[in-house]
Amino acid sequence: MCRGLPVLKLIIIGVFPDMDKFVIKGGKKLLGEVTISGAKNAAVAIIPAVILSDGVCRLENIPNISDVTLIAKILQCMGADIKRINKSTLDIDCRGIVKPVAPYDLVKDMRASYYLLGALLGKFSEASVAFPGGCDFGKRPIDQHLKGFSAMGAVHSITEGGIVNVKADYLKGAHIYLDVVSVGATMNIMLAAVKAHGTTIIENAAKEPHIVDLANFLNSMGANIKGAGTDTIKINGVKELKGTTYSIIPDQIEAGTYMAATAAAGGNVLLKNVTPEHLESITAKMREMNVTVIEYDDSVRVIREKPILPCNVTTMPHPGFPTDMQPQISVLLTLAKGLSIVTESVWDNRFRYINEIRRMGADITVNDKTATINGNGVLIPAPMRATDLRAGAAMIVAALAANGTSFIEDIDYIQRGYEDIVGKLQAIGADIERVPSSDNETISVAI
Ligand code: EPU
Repeated sequence: MCRGLPVLKLIIIGVFPDMDKFVIKGGKKLLGEVTISGAKNAAVAIIPAVILSDGVCRLENIPNISDVTLIAKILQCMGADIKRINKSTLDIDCRGIVKPVAPYDLVKDMRASYYLLGALLGKFSEASVAFPGGCDFGKRPIDQHLKGFSAMGAVHSITEGGIVNVKADYLKGAHIYLDVVSVGATMNIMLAAVKAHGTTIIENAAKEPHIVDLANFLNSMGANIKGAGTDTIKINGVKELKGTTYSIIPDQIEAGTYMAATAAAGGNVLLKNVTPEHLESITAKMREMNVTVIEYDDSVRVIREKPILPCNVTTMPHPGFPTDMQPQISVLLTLAKGLSIVTESVWDNRFRYINEIRRMGADITVNDKTATINGNGVLIPAPMRATDLRAGAAMIVAALAANGTSFIEDIDYIQRGYEDIVGKLQAIGADIERVPSSDNETISVAI
């Protein structure tokens, strides 16, 4: 049982999921300002990284999203003391975590729970965590994470129930070459290596902004990490890590999604609290598509007045075009008159949402990892189901452009990664509401 939390038992009568839906009346221009929240994929690594600290960490600019709530709840269940100081600031004290075991029921649904492996291993030389879940877009192996742990002297086993156990007498620095550029493996190896004996070198490391953010956070606790943001990261193990105060970076993908939304609906929106360099690949594609992007120090203005032009996009690890923007840019390209080719080179199966977008009249053919989009300049409103987080975001982008009323169900996916998406879109003039699904009723009794 989870310690430190009120216990709420739910008896579910019937099998109906608790699902609201978004109702979007599209065709309205977006005008005004949106403040971008902290980065999900930095927060879900930095929060478990606090396990490694011997003090209290104050984390600022934490997004208020369900993935953050879940990872915080997991730590609480393990013994952490977490206080919310304000909407985006948490004080986290993990000194109450004494066992390197994560609660299966919470962990299994979350991809980022694999960071518990690295953090617990780094702290206790041992970890036991359920195999990570999360959005389904093909195979999501963790062999490169395990390869790194094993080079540092840990042995692992995976039980039939899907629990990953890793253990070492002590962790020693190692030279690790990643066979694929992996965000998760790079961060997890960093977590395990910060307190290891000696020096760890990660070659072919991922370079995403959140890799640099995790390294900066760990360094602010006293770690010795150099080279984050390049192919080669060098980690000299240190004996102890102290408490710190740290503000996480703005969310590159949330910002990109609002850029796509403005481009789709038309209008003029200032995105505040962004790092324009993190948006460069997205900005470049927007400009190719005839969208104006003006960069300031920590904001960007997006203006779409002219018709969108077709273009080709290939997703790649950073600094390439991010896979987490592939669905949003693909729907945008359905609004361009002409042929665009989108190639997904990171994930095996990230075009499942295309069937939903076809309901809006889009002419898209998918062949393995390539989508051929024959844009005709318009989308028609339709009912859709979010198939994963970014797919759901793309459906919102599409619905904002379609004249008439669209419905999006399975919105829980979207709330995993977008803080107050309804409020932020309403503030720039979108007609979007969250309403209970009339045809999917949950009948539950809390006791
Ligand atoms: N891969 C392996 N072996 C591994 C690890 C990865 O073969 O051990 C492969 C994967 O199958 C994939 C590629 O390497 O084909 C890249 O995977 P990566 O490890 O980089 O992805 P991840 O760490 O599981 C994070 C983000 C994803 C984002 C990817 C790529 C988090 C929690 N998730 O996943 O974000 O798509 O990096 O940038 O940080 C999202 O936010 O919507 C999302 C899915």
